[in-house]
Amino acid sequence: MCSQRSKQSQAPLFEAMVAHHGHKHVSFHVPGHKSGQGLLDEGANFLRTVMSIDYTEITGLDDLHHAEGVIREAEQLAADCFGAEDTYFLIGGSTVGNLAMISAVCEKDDIILVQRNVHKSVIHGLMLAGARAVFIAPDIHPETGVATSIHIEDVQQALEQYPEAKALFLTNPNYYGMGVNLKPFAELMHAKGKLLLVDEAHGAHYGFHPEVPASALSQGADAVVQSTHKMLTAMTMGAMIHVQGPRINRMAIKQLLGMLQSSSPSYPIMASLDLARKRMHTEGKDWLEQGITVVNEFRSWLDELNKFDFHPREFPENQSQRHQTADPFKVAIYDPTNTLTGSELKDRLEAQGCFVEMTDGRQVLLVFTPASSRADMLRVVHALNNICSDVPLQKKELQAPISNILKLPYYTQISSPIAFDMRDISKAGRVEGAFSKVSVQDAVGKRSADMVIPYPPGIPYLYPGEVISASVAEALLQLAASGIKFQGTEFGQTQKLKIYT
Ligand SMILES: Cc1ncc(COP(=O)(O)O)c(C=O)c1O
Repeated sequence: MCSQRSKQSQAPLFEAMVAHHGHKHVSFHVPGHKSGQGLLDEGANFLRTVMSIDYTEITGLDDLHHAEGVIREAEQLAADCFGAEDTYFLIGGSTVGNLAMISAVCEKDDIILVQRNVHKSVIHGLMLAGARAVFIAPDIHPETGVATSIHIEDVQQALEQYPEAKALFLTNPNYYGMGVNLKPFAELMHAKGKLLLVDEAHGAHYGFHPEVPASALSQGADAVVQSTHKMLTAMTMGAMIHVQGPRINRMAIKQLLGMLQSSSPSYPIMASLDLARKRMHTEGKDWLEQGITVVNEFRSWLDELNKFDFHPREFPENQSQRHQTADPFKVAIYDPTNTLTGSELKDRLEAQGCFVEMTDGRQVLLVFTPASSRADMLRVVHALNNICSDVPLQKKELQAPISNILKLPYYTQISSPIAFDMRDISKAGRVEGAFSKVSVQDAVGKRSADMVIPYPPGIPYLYPGEVISASVAEALLQLAASGIKFQGTEFGQTQKLKIYT
């Protein structure tokens, strides 16, 4: 490890690519653009420099799927930097990491405990593995309706009900930067000889500064996926999967990545992972400090302005609250007078050149990163000031459907095991009579063929294969009546649910 440390100021993959570039070799290999020579002129300004190092597995540049040279070196440096025993580069985002992580742990029909509010790649991972998921419902943030984290007591109860469960899958932090301390979850799972898998897509910067939460690896997770492209400087799709300890099957992870990732991985993306790691190791804390200073100034300005409310506000110490940690780089703002909806606020910001991450109907999520400059922050300050001058913000009743997000009806706290199966997908639209669409009342007791996601807040009430209980059916009717929209289904328009026949 000591020699790793001394190499942390290098970027072996990127440097090998630059050295190859410097030799002015002639390409008789793919890619066909031949270092950008074939590019249309109109793309040259934007793409030529990147294409000039858009290499493939040529001598000296290693092979992602059989890494033993500069790519392996870069991965080992990343493992050392992020606190893993082993790290593998991903060129298909955290999406591919989640697919591999679940399939490496679950065989067909194995049970896995899964936080209900997960990214769709987790569901696709369950389908690929043919696993059975026991979903645990998250808490809903009382002021904003955002789904946060699950309770350890629910995990304990689920383990009593399903002692054969292989692992617990958590998403931490959520999109808004809200999360929990993972150590108790790791200890609970490990005491029972089971794994903790964490989708830390939004937390590649965790652990690098006292003001950001600790990383999942440092709290004992066995495998962790991070989108290095989200909060750090990797190019889009650049991500990493980190593993540690004896419980995770590294060989299976490697084999799965070989199946799921392209055999022509992007060298610019991999080089950007190498450089992102170098930056974090050599200047991570100072660099984060600079970003935190910018975002803290923005929060103070918001406080002084006293027009928009924002979250996450603080780091609640109270362990009974399910959201215990907050990422200082995320700022979700909303108009507490309810004059402007989230969409209206987003449109007004965009009209002034400030493009935001998303809106959930009420809040607009601003993602700062350590790369955000003070000038960027001042742009959004200017835009918000203009909005306040243009629109008289006067207290109004919160309108439906957003008002209803805050009083969502009950859904299953700990689900029964739901079997995920790729065959359900291959049948979709192909096999006559595989599905039917029925009224909510007639759907009770049947298996849903749709993912039914009230949006906001975007937590699936039904997963494909999940048996529709009377209480969920009732909840869906209430949600539809209150004007909440639905994703993944025509239920909102037709009031009918698609079920397996
Ligand atoms: C929680 C979570 N996990 C995984 C992903 C997928 O990440 P990627 O875009 O790197 O594939 C996302 C994407 O937004 C996400 O929000």
